[in-house]
Amino acid sequence: MSFMEPFRIKMVEPLALLTMEERIKILEDCGWNPFQVEGRHVTFDLATDSGTGAMSQDQWAAMMQADEGYFSSRSFKKLEDCVKSLTGFHFMLPAHQGRAVEHLLLSILSKPGMTVFSNNLFLTTRGNADLAGLHVVDVPCQGSPDSSFNGDIDCERLKVELEKVGPERAMVVLVVASTSPAGQPVSMANIQDLSTICRSFDVPLIMDGCRYAENAYFIKTRDNEYKNMPCKDIALKMFSYFDHVYVSAKKDGLCNTGGFLATNKEDVYNKASVRMFYTEGYKTYGGLTGRDMESMTIGLREGIDDKFLQYRVESTRMFGDILKKAGVHVIDPIGCGIYINGAKCLPHIPTCQYPAFALHCALYVSGGIRCSQVDDILKLDESNERENPKSQHILRIQIPRRVYTLGHMLHIRDIFKGIIEKRESISGMRVIDFTSSDLSAVLEPLNRKLFSD
Ligand code: F0G
Repeated sequence: MSFMEPFRIKMVEPLALLTMEERIKILEDCGWNPFQVEGRHVTFDLATDSGTGAMSQDQWAAMMQADEGYFSSRSFKKLEDCVKSLTGFHFMLPAHQGRAVEHLLLSILSKPGMTVFSNNLFLTTRGNADLAGLHVVDVPCQGSPDSSFNGDIDCERLKVELEKVGPERAMVVLVVASTSPAGQPVSMANIQDLSTICRSFDVPLIMDGCRYAENAYFIKTRDNEYKNMPCKDIALKMFSYFDHVYVSAKKDGLCNTGGFLATNKEDVYNKASVRMFYTEGYKTYGGLTGRDMESMTIGLREGIDDKFLQYRVESTRMFGDILKKAGVHVIDPIGCGIYINGAKCLPHIPTCQYPAFALHCALYVSGGIRCSQVDDILKLDESNERENPKSQHILRIQIPRRVYTLGHMLHIRDIFKGIIEKRESISGMRVIDFTSSDLSAVLEPLNRKLFSD
């Protein structure tokens, strides 16, 4: 399916254009870790689509008219009306971002010994479940027959698990679209089946709706039954099967910060309102300014527009396709993001020499490109050697919304192509220091040079 950007550009930001020599020096100073490179030295930042999008003229204009009152401001009322009509839920609470709502909701719903089942919980939700004393079990489906909805949860396995733990000791979070790999969509049929199961067991069903709008577009384009339905109505139908939803508005809400909780359960709303007063703020601002709420209100509306979603999803798919044609090992099917198998792109580098990190460094040096990695360096194994056989060696590309043009994508494709052509010259990496995560690890190329002459 073709697409075009449904906007034109009014304000521009210059790209950071450095020489290759400058970037090598910068990366060396940053312990050969592209996560540590300062933003002003990055030309294309594809590490995340979270809070990195460009706002529209209507968002900026609305921000100028914000009401910064503490109690029930005009800006809050607009957001409340918007979220209620978008989701169909009766109660909503704003929050500064998605993980704040995860923390709030999971701590309210948790009871000792409870398990949270999911198709694939996001990292921060996993951490918040842990903080709330919850046990986490992922029960993803093993891929749908035509791979259209690989984010589905395995309903049969879930039933067995729920029988085992008992209804009063379980809750279910469906991540829509599923986190990994590559943001796979969830089908409406799966949502309906899951809702029937949760109701029959009397288990709370929660949606992680960070990318709910993109998921609605996938349903529209992959399930014939919904092909004539606007994404807004598909989303409303999706929400109708859940007890609660939490959303990071930094993704499909098209704003730089913000999130919300929506629910039909008054007791959950009341408990959450009291609790958030001590951590986020009063229930009518939740840690946000009036102008944040204004930009979220408009962003949520723009983010569920069919033409916008066509551009968003189809441009991601097209970018993945042109990378594949350039010889890049893109993991199929492409969903809300692009996942690249670093080990297959650089097959001469053994996995104990971190091929995804090497590819990431090569992308930064050659084109100032930053991506992110999915658990490339895991904890040391029992023998205390820096081997990571469990690791995925995946490079993740998440495209900021309304930021980069087709020209940029073609340029990035050319950078990848250049790297693939001279891949034999790229060195493996050695870990010098690893405390807790890839973000702060210090590495170096094996021969102290990333590209051999
Ligand atoms: N759930 C999902 C599926 C997410 O992808 C994220 C964030 C969150 C929850 C938490 O939301 O950042 O507003 O607190 N994902 C970002 C990413 C960080 O890069 O994928 P948040």
